Amino acid sequence: MEHKEKEIEELWSYFFKKPRNNYNPYMLRLLDFPDYILFKKKMMNDYKGKWKEFFGNDNPIYLEIGTGSGNFTKEIAKRHPERNFIGLELRFKRLCLAASKCQKESLNNVVFLRRRGEELAEFLEKEELSGLYINFPDPWEGNEKNRMIQASLFSSLDSLLKVGGILFFKTDHDQYYQDVLTLVDTLEQYQVIYHTSDLHQSEKAENNIKTEFEHLFLYKHNKNINYIEIQKVK
Ligand SMILES: C[S@@+](CC[C@H](N)C(=O)[O-])C[C@H]1O[C@@H](n2cnc3c(N)ncnc32)[C@H](O)[C@@H]1O
Repeated sequence: MEHKEKEIEELWSYFFKKPRNNYNPYMLRLLDFPDYILFKKKMMNDYKGKWKEFFGNDNPIYLEIGTGSGNFTKEIAKRHPERNFIGLELRFKRLCLAASKCQKESLNNVVFLRRRGEELAEFLEKEELSGLYINFPDPWEGNEKNRMIQASLFSSLDSLLKVGGILFFKTDHDQYYQDVLTLVDTLEQYQVIYHTSDLHQSEKAENNIKTEFEHLFLYKHNKNINYIEIQKVK
């Protein structure tokens, strides 16, 4: 019991500066998935340029920002054993659920990092990324400067994403969709190679992997799903 209390204290003080009065039990469960979840920044940063050593192969690396509970990550990793996947998520419970799904399938090409999408350059080397998925990011209505997809993301992809690499973006938010199309139009190194405002009525529907939020928007709110593929062309 004392040992457990010490573990909680250590983890709490790793993540939070404020004193502990209660804690999220999923914080401690991060420790149950050592092969699937990294939460210490230094460890992630030490893999910069060396993720092939982590995965034990030279396969291309794809990254997802904001995996949620990991349905998409688990499924795409299963479909593509010839690729490696790094999933970023901040919430403890979602990280544990995602890791648990991948563990059940014994996947060896996925890892989840408790890390912000804004910090890619701290743990990825130049041209280490072959592709990027961003599914249903927060649209930050009224506070759009906080959005994940904005000019600063492309500035870091200028260095981190290989030429030919693709950013895949899905959103229920029609204005976010339009804003990203407009933004990419201003960027010389990137080109929209596919877009639709109704993914589920498009030719891409058949191979589409639905995320948890996508289920919600589709079936509960009967909402059209917007989808864009953006390629780095030079
Ligand atoms: C709206 S949810 C979508 C989750 C999942 N992609 C889906 O479609 O079901 C957005 C997710 O991004 C995570 N998130 C928010 N800001 C983030 C950031 N800066 N870096 C990484 N993940 C973030 C949230 O914790 C949340 O799980």
